[in-house]
Amino acid sequence: MKNIVIFASGSGSNAENIINYFKNGTKANIVSVFCNNASAKVFERCERLGIPCTLINKTHLFSSDEFLSSLKASTDYIILAGFLLKIPESWIKAFPNRMINIHPALLPKYGGKGMYGMHIHNAVKANNETETGITIHFVNENYDEGAIIFQKKVTVTPEDSVAQIADKIHMLEQHYFPRVIEDVICPINE
Ligand code: GRF
Repeated sequence: MKNIVIFASGSGSNAENIINYFKNGTKANIVSVFCNNASAKVFERCERLGIPCTLINKTHLFSSDEFLSSLKASTDYIILAGFLLKIPESWIKAFPNRMINIHPALLPKYGGKGMYGMHIHNAVKANNETETGITIHFVNENYDEGAIIFQKKVTVTPEDSVAQIADKIHMLEQHYFPRVIEDVICPINE
């Protein structure tokens, strides 16, 4: 059983989906969620699901050796599910290839600072893209540049509104993110 913590900043639909996916299984124990936004909906979701959700700030990430050491001692993987703060290098060194992010576009397109949430789907629409998708990748020191684990494409039609593009991405995220996490944490030949 691998111990997993999730970092989120917003709604937490991915966090909820991951918690539900693993809850009756033997592969992952979702220990806790950490969130840097006191008004984020992920707090409500975690309360309903019975998973602790703790408010953190930049100090926890950048200046607290204690926080990093305690997670390092007790956590196998960190999942970033809509977490908007940049991850410091000390964390990447502490969790090499053990920190996984999901990005709602086909990286390297529409990645980097400022490219998150609806900004991405607006840009996809504005550029008349014929496809978009999701990228699940390991986290390195640059936004959205870590090694890609998995991508899935979806068609965008000229009739699709930005909201419809967002819905298509959401469906892909809900289906694939927990399954890809499962493949990473429990490789078939392990
Ligand atoms: C998702 O689209 C994810 O790909 C991105 O941030 C969004 C988070 O949504 N990194 P939610 O908070 O999980 O609902």
